[in-house]
Amino acid sequence: MTTKHPIGLIGLGVMGRSLALNLADHGFDVSLHDRSPQAVARSVADDTTGRLHGFESLADFVDSLAAPRKVLMMVNAGAPVDDVIAKIAPLLSPGDILVDGGNSLFADTERRSAELAASGLCFVGAGVSGGEEGARKGPAIMPGGPVEAWTALRPMFEAISAKVDGEPCVSHIGPGGAGHYVKMVHNGIEYGDMQLICEAYALMRAAGLDTDAMAAVFDEWNRGELRSYLIEITARILAQRDPDTGAPIVDVILDKAGQKGTGQWTLMNAAQNAVVVSTMGAAVDARVLSSMKATRLVASTRLQGPEARIDLPVAEWVELLRQALYASKIVSYAQGLDLMRTMSAQRGWNLDLGAIARLWRGGCIIRAQFLNRIAEAHADGQAPASLMLAPYFETALNGAQPAWRRVVAQAMLAGVPVPAMSASLAFFDAFRSARLPADLLQAQRDFFGAHTYERIDRPAGQFFHTVWPEVQG
Ligand code: 6PG
Repeated sequence: MTTKHPIGLIGLGVMGRSLALNLADHGFDVSLHDRSPQAVARSVADDTTGRLHGFESLADFVDSLAAPRKVLMMVNAGAPVDDVIAKIAPLLSPGDILVDGGNSLFADTERRSAELAASGLCFVGAGVSGGEEGARKGPAIMPGGPVEAWTALRPMFEAISAKVDGEPCVSHIGPGGAGHYVKMVHNGIEYGDMQLICEAYALMRAAGLDTDAMAAVFDEWNRGELRSYLIEITARILAQRDPDTGAPIVDVILDKAGQKGTGQWTLMNAAQNAVVVSTMGAAVDARVLSSMKATRLVASTRLQGPEARIDLPVAEWVELLRQALYASKIVSYAQGLDLMRTMSAQRGWNLDLGAIARLWRGGCIIRAQFLNRIAEAHADGQAPASLMLAPYFETALNGAQPAWRRVVAQAMLAGVPVPAMSASLAFFDAFRSARLPADLLQAQRDFFGAHTYERIDRPAGQFFHTVWPEVQG
């Protein structure tokens, strides 16, 4: 072969095929390989540019690539990634670049980077968001790993990524597993956004809105500060009818949520780093609870509560909900940013939170107008201790908090679960409390374990112990 190709792609599932077609559309010749020759043939057949080239043998695939070779793996996270690496690494040469574009756990990416670096290979863990349509027309890409690998990949990644105001939705996130880490937090935030929207939907139902009315509300919200992809698709979903029954499609979909694990990974990482991500936590829990459908059906006949009915004028209620949703979303993002800030400091990743917010404005599932505000809050080297203390968000939260309280209180009284909205509000209230009941908690610890406490009237760092009375019995 005379002409070598600038990139190869392994794994032609939905995401892999779409990215290959996207690369071809942008003028890049792509070598393709998949364990299924049919998948390769299908992708080549879908291509109208003549730039996709299939290879049945992995050796021929590797041989078709220009040095330093760039190989993008789009296979399922976990063992499949290790399997592909085990097969391809011996065929590659020092300086070649292997990219994992799946939703891999960042710790796996760090391990693989170290293992491959030993043989001179550059490993890039790149989060890719946007689903099938994003991959085909412009995803958000979050690559981590060595800077020289980023420099080599940059022209291709910038060409195929989504653009906002002409800016490509891709940038070098940081070393090692930083790219996959940021994609994981993106997914945790995605879980929070989705659950908050679902709670607003439940509260609209409780106020008597039908799905067409709800679709109109989400459509309207999509014109204001809540403007985002997830609000937009919610409007479309609520307007959709089931072809078999003519009923609104949501009414025939079983209320059992699935999840692939990235939300749980985010929670585990937050717990390990003592960062509160309670909105995401509530969102993951809500999915788990929803999946216990059979037990819930039994409980629904045995455990009592009020009728899920909100008796407020619809227009008034919808406006309260809008404000509650926006405030809850701010808290959720503040928590996600706290987590990234903490891990960045701990690992020395030097994450640029403003650049990450800018990157997320397009292509990815959480793309939203609101991310401009987050980017602004971090512009020119600003680093607010919490997003909630950045001036725009402080004003937004203070403005929304009366409505937010009414919504959560009404929901509780009507027995409508709003775990994410209430977790966000509880976080807001704890965060803004000059004094919390942790004074009593410290006393309890000191009582049973002599763990000592600090005093409000003595310098920090001095610890005291009280000789507590003995407990009888
Ligand atoms: C994205 C999505 C994508 C995928 C998640 C959904 O950014 O494009 O987050 O990665 O849809 O895996 O995960 P769950 O199946 O856990 O909802």
